[in-house]
Amino acid sequence: MLLELKHVSKTYEIGDTVIRALDEISLGVAEKEFVAIMGPSGSGKSTFLQVASMLAEPSSGEIFLSGQEVSSYNEIQRAHLRNKQIGFVFQSFNLLARTSALENVMLPLFYAGYGADSSEAREKAKVMLERVGLGNRLNNTPAQLSGGQQQRVAIARALINDPTIIFADEPTGNLDSKSGEDIKQILRELNQEGKTIIMVTHEDDVAAIAKRQIVFRDGKVLSDSAVHHKSSTTSKAKKQKGRS
Ligand SMILES: Nc1ncnc2c1ncn2[C@@H]1O[C@H](COP(=O)(O)OP(=O)(O)O)[C@@H](O)[C@H]1O
Ligand SMILES: [Mg+2]
Repeated sequence: MLLELKHVSKTYEIGDTVIRALDEISLGVAEKEFVAIMGPSGSGKSTFLQVASMLAEPSSGEIFLSGQEVSSYNEIQRAHLRNKQIGFVFQSFNLLARTSALENVMLPLFYAGYGADSSEAREKAKVMLERVGLGNRLNNTPAQLSGGQQQRVAIARALINDPTIIFADEPTGNLDSKSGEDIKQILRELNQEGKTIIMVTHEDDVAAIAKRQIVFRDGKVLSDSAVHHKSSTTSKAKKQKGRS
Protein backbone atom coordinates (compact mmCIF):
# COMPACT_ATOMS: atom_id res chain seq x y z
CA MET A 1 0.00 0.00 0.00
CA LEU A 2 1.42 3.39 -0.99
CA LEU A 3 -0.56 5.44 1.53
CA GLU A 4 -2.30 4.01 4.55
CA LEU A 5 -4.31 5.75 7.27
CA LYS A 6 -5.14 3.86 10.45
CA HIS A 7 -7.80 5.27 12.78
CA VAL A 8 -6.92 8.84 11.87
CA SER A 9 -8.88 11.58 13.61
CA LYS A 10 -8.50 15.34 13.44
CA THR A 11 -10.22 17.68 15.85
CA TYR A 12 -10.33 21.47 15.89
CA GLU A 13 -11.02 23.32 19.08
CA ILE A 14 -12.73 26.68 19.00
CA GLY A 15 -13.31 27.96 22.53
CA ASP A 16 -14.87 25.00 24.30
CA THR A 17 -16.35 23.54 21.13
CA VAL A 18 -14.56 20.53 19.69
CA ILE A 19 -15.11 19.85 16.01
CA ARG A 20 -14.31 16.31 14.94
CA ALA A 21 -13.41 16.99 11.29
CA LEU A 22 -12.05 13.46 10.75
CA ASP A 23 -13.41 10.62 12.83
CA GLU A 24 -11.37 7.39 12.89
CA ILE A 25 -10.57 7.20 9.19
CA SER A 26 -8.91 3.96 8.06
CA LEU A 27 -8.16 3.47 4.39
CA GLY A 28 -5.40 2.65 1.96
CA VAL A 29 -4.45 3.97 -1.46
CA ALA A 30 -2.35 1.81 -3.77
CA GLU A 31 0.18 3.02 -6.31
CA LYS A 32 -1.35 4.33 -9.57
CA GLU A 33 -4.82 4.77 -8.09
CA PHE A 34 -6.92 7.80 -8.99
CA VAL A 35 -9.22 8.58 -6.06
CA ALA A 36 -11.96 11.20 -5.93
CA ILE A 37 -12.94 12.40 -2.46
CA MET A 38 -16.54 13.60 -2.39
CA GLY A 39 -19.18 14.65 0.12
CA PRO A 40 -21.09 17.71 1.27
CA SER A 41 -19.48 20.93 2.45
CA GLY A 42 -18.04 20.50 5.93
CA SER A 43 -17.79 16.70 5.69
CA GLY A 44 -14.00 16.74 6.16
CA LYS A 45 -12.70 16.49 2.59
CA SER A 46 -10.13 19.29 2.83
CA THR A 47 -9.05 18.21 6.29
CA PHE A 48 -8.54 14.68 4.97
CA LEU A 49 -6.40 15.98 2.13
CA GLN A 50 -4.29 18.15 4.45
CA VAL A 51 -3.72 15.35 6.93
CA ALA A 52 -3.09 12.66 4.30
CA SER A 53 -0.60 14.93 2.51
CA MET A 54 1.33 15.77 5.69
CA LEU A 55 0.36 19.45 5.56
CA ALA A 56 -1.54 19.07 8.84
CA GLU A 57 -0.91 16.74 11.75
CA PRO A 58 -3.57 14.23 12.77
CA SER A 59 -4.88 14.49 16.35
CA SER A 60 -4.65 10.71 16.63
CA GLY A 61 -4.04 7.68 14.47
CA GLU A 62 -1.20 6.68 12.20
CA ILE A 63 -0.23 7.41 8.60
CA PHE A 64 2.12 5.24 6.57
CA LEU A 65 3.74 6.26 3.29
CA SER A 66 5.38 3.39 1.41
CA GLY A 67 5.28 1.41 4.65
CA GLN A 68 7.05 4.11 6.64
CA GLU A 69 5.24 5.58 9.63
CA VAL A 70 5.23 9.31 8.86
CA SER A 71 2.58 10.66 11.26
CA SER A 72 5.16 11.03 14.02
CA TYR A 73 7.56 13.08 11.86
CA ASN A 74 8.50 16.52 13.14
CA GLU A 75 7.84 19.64 11.06
CA ILE A 76 11.27 19.60 9.38
CA GLN A 77 10.90 15.96 8.37
CA ARG A 78 7.37 16.62 7.14
CA ALA A 79 8.47 19.57 5.02
CA HIS A 80 11.25 17.47 3.50
CA LEU A 81 8.82 14.64 2.76
CA ARG A 82 6.31 17.03 1.14
CA ASN A 83 9.00 18.54 -1.04
CA LYS A 84 10.32 15.17 -2.21
CA GLN A 85 7.24 13.01 -2.45
CA ILE A 86 4.09 15.09 -2.64
CA GLY A 87 2.62 17.45 -5.22
CA PHE A 88 -0.21 19.85 -4.37
CA VAL A 89 -2.82 21.48 -6.56
CA PHE A 90 -5.20 23.92 -4.88
CA GLN A 91 -8.51 25.44 -5.93
CA SER A 92 -7.01 28.94 -5.79
CA PHE A 93 -3.75 27.98 -7.60
CA ASN A 94 -1.54 29.47 -4.82
CA LEU A 95 1.10 30.84 -7.21
CA LEU A 96 3.51 33.58 -6.20
CA ALA A 97 2.33 36.90 -7.66
CA ARG A 98 4.83 39.08 -9.57
CA THR A 99 6.82 35.92 -10.24
CA SER A 100 7.03 34.32 -13.67
CA ALA A 101 5.49 30.96 -14.51
CA LEU A 102 9.01 29.58 -14.93
CA GLU A 103 10.14 30.78 -11.50
CA ASN A 104 6.96 29.51 -9.84
CA VAL A 105 7.63 26.06 -11.25
CA MET A 106 11.33 26.22 -10.29
CA LEU A 107 10.59 27.08 -6.65
CA PRO A 108 10.30 23.49 -5.31
CA LEU A 109 13.64 22.73 -6.97
CA PHE A 110 15.37 25.41 -4.87
CA TYR A 111 13.99 23.80 -1.71
CA ALA A 112 15.25 20.47 -3.06
CA GLY A 113 18.76 21.93 -3.23
CA TYR A 114 19.21 23.38 -6.72
CA GLY A 115 21.01 26.73 -6.87
CA ALA A 116 19.00 29.87 -7.66
CA ASP A 117 20.70 30.27 -11.04
CA SER A 118 20.82 26.56 -11.89
CA SER A 119 20.41 26.12 -15.63
CA GLU A 120 19.35 22.54 -15.02
CA ALA A 121 16.48 23.73 -12.79
CA ARG A 122 15.48 26.27 -15.44
CA GLU A 123 15.48 23.58 -18.13
CA LYS A 124 13.45 21.15 -16.00
CA ALA A 125 10.83 23.82 -15.30
CA LYS A 126 10.67 24.74 -18.98
CA VAL A 127 10.09 21.11 -19.97
CA MET A 128 7.35 20.79 -17.35
CA LEU A 129 5.59 23.95 -18.57
CA GLU A 130 5.78 22.65 -22.14
CA ARG A 131 4.24 19.43 -20.84
CA VAL A 132 1.13 21.37 -19.71
CA GLY A 133 0.97 23.41 -22.91
CA LEU A 134 2.54 26.62 -21.61
CA GLY A 135 5.89 26.58 -23.38
CA ASN A 136 5.09 30.03 -24.81
CA ARG A 137 4.16 31.55 -21.42
CA LEU A 138 7.34 31.01 -19.42
CA ASN A 139 7.82 34.67 -18.51
CA ASN A 140 4.20 35.57 -17.79
CA THR A 141 3.22 36.37 -14.21
CA PRO A 142 0.00 34.86 -12.78
CA ALA A 143 -1.88 38.14 -13.42
CA GLN A 144 -0.99 37.79 -17.10
CA LEU A 145 -2.48 34.29 -17.30
CA SER A 146 -6.07 32.98 -17.33
CA GLY A 147 -7.32 30.87 -14.43
CA GLY A 148 -6.92 27.70 -16.46
CA GLN A 149 -3.35 28.65 -17.38
CA GLN A 150 -2.53 29.47 -13.75
CA GLN A 151 -3.81 26.06 -12.72
CA ARG A 152 -1.62 24.46 -15.38
CA VAL A 153 1.39 26.32 -13.93
CA ALA A 154 0.37 24.97 -10.51
CA ILE A 155 0.24 21.43 -11.92
CA ALA A 156 3.69 21.87 -13.49
CA ARG A 157 4.96 23.07 -10.09
CA ALA A 158 3.34 20.06 -8.38
CA LEU A 159 5.09 17.69 -10.81
CA ILE A 160 8.54 19.25 -10.85
CA ASN A 161 10.07 17.03 -8.15
CA ASP A 162 8.48 13.90 -9.63
CA PRO A 163 6.26 13.28 -6.57
CA THR A 164 4.90 9.91 -5.54
CA ILE A 165 1.38 11.28 -5.01
CA ILE A 166 -0.50 14.31 -6.35
CA PHE A 167 -3.11 15.81 -4.01
CA ALA A 168 -5.65 18.17 -5.56
CA ASP A 169 -8.35 20.09 -3.65
CA GLU A 170 -11.16 21.17 -6.00
CA PRO A 171 -8.67 21.74 -8.86
CA THR A 172 -11.42 22.87 -11.25
CA GLY A 173 -13.48 24.72 -8.63
CA ASN A 174 -12.50 28.22 -9.77
CA LEU A 175 -12.43 27.52 -13.51
CA ASP A 176 -14.81 27.93 -16.43
CA SER A 177 -15.93 24.65 -17.98
CA LYS A 178 -13.48 24.76 -20.93
CA SER A 179 -10.47 25.31 -18.63
CA GLY A 180 -11.87 22.67 -16.29
CA GLU A 181 -11.90 20.18 -19.18
CA ASP A 182 -8.22 20.95 -19.89
CA ILE A 183 -7.30 20.28 -16.26
CA LYS A 184 -9.34 17.06 -16.20
CA GLN A 185 -7.54 15.89 -19.34
CA ILE A 186 -4.10 16.62 -17.84
CA LEU A 187 -4.97 14.76 -14.61
CA ARG A 188 -6.31 11.80 -16.60
CA GLU A 189 -3.10 11.63 -18.63
CA LEU A 190 -0.92 11.88 -15.54
CA ASN A 191 -2.75 8.95 -14.00
CA GLN A 192 -2.48 6.94 -17.23
CA GLU A 193 1.27 7.59 -17.05
CA GLY A 194 1.24 6.04 -13.59
CA LYS A 195 0.89 8.95 -11.14
CA THR A 196 -1.19 8.32 -8.04
CA ILE A 197 -3.80 11.07 -7.65
CA ILE A 198 -6.07 11.91 -4.72
CA MET A 199 -8.50 14.67 -5.64
CA VAL A 200 -11.28 16.40 -3.72
CA THR A 201 -14.24 17.50 -5.80
CA HIS A 202 -17.97 17.98 -5.37
CA GLU A 203 -18.62 17.89 -9.10
CA ASP A 204 -19.81 14.53 -10.48
CA ASP A 205 -18.26 15.03 -13.92
CA VAL A 206 -14.88 15.75 -12.34
CA ALA A 207 -15.16 12.77 -9.97
CA ALA A 208 -16.00 10.62 -12.99
CA ILE A 209 -12.40 10.80 -14.26
CA ALA A 210 -11.24 8.99 -11.12
CA LYS A 211 -11.29 5.21 -10.76
CA ARG A 212 -12.42 5.15 -7.17
CA GLN A 213 -14.78 7.43 -5.28
CA ILE A 214 -14.76 7.86 -1.52
CA VAL A 215 -17.70 9.78 -0.07
CA PHE A 216 -17.25 11.54 3.27
CA ARG A 217 -20.04 12.42 5.69
CA ASP A 218 -19.46 13.99 9.10
CA GLY A 219 -15.76 13.15 9.07
CA LYS A 220 -16.38 9.47 8.31
CA VAL A 221 -16.24 7.40 5.13
CA LEU A 222 -19.82 6.90 3.96
CA SER A 223 -18.92 4.85 0.89
CA ASP A 224 -15.83 3.72 -1.00
CA SER A 225 -16.37 2.25 -4.44
CA ALA A 226 -14.78 1.62 -7.81
CA VAL A 227 -15.97 3.82 -10.68
CA HIS A 228 -17.28 1.99 -13.70
CA HIS A 229 -16.28 3.90 -16.79
CA LYS A 230 -18.83 3.65 -19.57
CA SER A 231 -17.37 3.73 -23.05
CA SER A 232 -18.42 6.95 -24.69
CA THR A 233 -18.39 8.01 -28.32
CA THR A 234 -17.54 11.58 -27.43
CA SER A 235 -14.82 10.93 -24.89
CA LYS A 236 -11.24 10.32 -25.85
CA ALA A 237 -10.76 8.26 -22.70
CA LYS A 238 -8.80 5.15 -23.40
CA LYS A 239 -10.17 1.79 -22.37
CA GLN A 240 -9.40 0.94 -18.77
CA LYS A 241 -7.05 -1.99 -18.61
CA GLY A 242 -8.73 -3.94 -15.85
CA ARG A 243 -7.39 -1.69 -13.11
CA SER A 244 -9.83 -1.02 -10.32
N1 LIG B 1 -8.92 25.44 10.65
C1 LIG B 1 -10.10 25.05 11.15
N2 LIG B 1 -10.49 25.44 12.38
C2 LIG B 1 -11.67 25.04 12.89
N3 LIG B 1 -12.54 24.26 12.26
C3 LIG B 1 -12.22 23.84 11.04
C4 LIG B 1 -10.99 24.22 10.40
N4 LIG B 1 -10.94 23.66 9.17
C5 LIG B 1 -12.09 22.96 9.04
N5 LIG B 1 -12.87 23.08 10.15
C6 LIG B 1 -14.16 22.40 10.38
O1 LIG B 1 -13.97 21.02 10.17
C7 LIG B 1 -15.09 20.46 9.47
C8 LIG B 1 -14.58 19.86 8.16
O2 LIG B 1 -14.12 20.93 7.31
P1 LIG B 1 -13.44 20.69 5.90
O3 LIG B 1 -12.44 19.62 6.03
O4 LIG B 1 -13.00 22.00 5.39
O5 LIG B 1 -14.68 20.15 5.04
P2 LIG B 1 -14.95 20.14 3.47
O6 LIG B 1 -13.66 20.35 2.77
O7 LIG B 1 -15.58 18.82 3.21
O8 LIG B 1 -15.92 21.26 3.22
C9 LIG B 1 -16.08 21.58 9.30
O9 LIG B 1 -16.99 21.53 10.37
C10 LIG B 1 -15.23 22.83 9.39
O10 LIG B 1 -15.96 23.92 9.85
MG1 LIG C 1 -13.02 21.80 1.35
